[in-house]
Amino acid sequence: MKSIQLSDGRSISFLHQICEKENAPTILFAHGFPLDHSMWLGQMPLKEHASLLIPDLPGFGKSDPVTGQFSMRGIADDLAEFLKVMDIPKAVFCGLSMGGYIGWEFAKNHNELLAGLICCNSRATADDELTARAREVAAVQVINGGTDSLAVTMKEKLFSTHTKSENTELLESVAGVIRNTRAETVAAAQRGMAIRHDFSKELSEFCVRTLVVAGTEDVITPSDEMQEMSFLLEQSTFVAISEAGHLSPAEHPEVFNHAVVHWLS
Ligand code: MLT
Repeated sequence: MKSIQLSDGRSISFLHQICEKENAPTILFAHGFPLDHSMWLGQMPLKEHASLLIPDLPGFGKSDPVTGQFSMRGIADDLAEFLKVMDIPKAVFCGLSMGGYIGWEFAKNHNELLAGLICCNSRATADDELTARAREVAAVQVINGGTDSLAVTMKEKLFSTHTKSENTELLESVAGVIRNTRAETVAAAQRGMAIRHDFSKELSEFCVRTLVVAGTEDVITPSDEMQEMSFLLEQSTFVAISEAGHLSPAEHPEVFNHAVVHWLS
């Protein structure tokens, strides 16, 4: 892992794989909650087609926490600065779930840096009141009790039946990442997601090529809901990965990578 500093002194930890091909695009990855860069390790073979920039989002993994309030807009701004510090003029933004919420903010506020959008297992709507309240309860629980029980519940919710029976290594590694995530970051991110902007009425205004990727067994962001969202985007391609849950790129990396390469070309 490398690390760079943002202008306010916070460091961002990241993996950088440079593609040897001339004019290859860069893909900037934004992981889901409450994970880190390692959820994208199955995407390493994409380096034959694109340069890969895979950070730990602020507060997660080895990156420094945000100083003020954690917000989707704030993280999008941090990632825009990260690209500028790395001297990368444009990137395809690939976000999963919370990473996807950040992607909408990035597309709206940093359009000049955007070469395309890959929205995985995510949605454009904001939280309803009930969900936002549940997030506050979860935030308090994690501050008081740590991340162990979150690791157990998320392990149940994140994966397809197939992944649960065939890839226990992935389940354990994701649970380990969740256990090691700072409780303060988990709480701050829950609160940040609870007040995120609703982009569902603005989707037709996004003039960017988008790949929307769903998992047929995703119980957090159901595939049908994602397909409907995809219809509202001007230039979008929809792919549903079978036997995949909420972490489709990690559960079926070959299928996901193939879809990305096809879409890039
Ligand atoms: C994620 O995977 O990032 C979360 O499911 C997002 C959320 O809690 O809304």
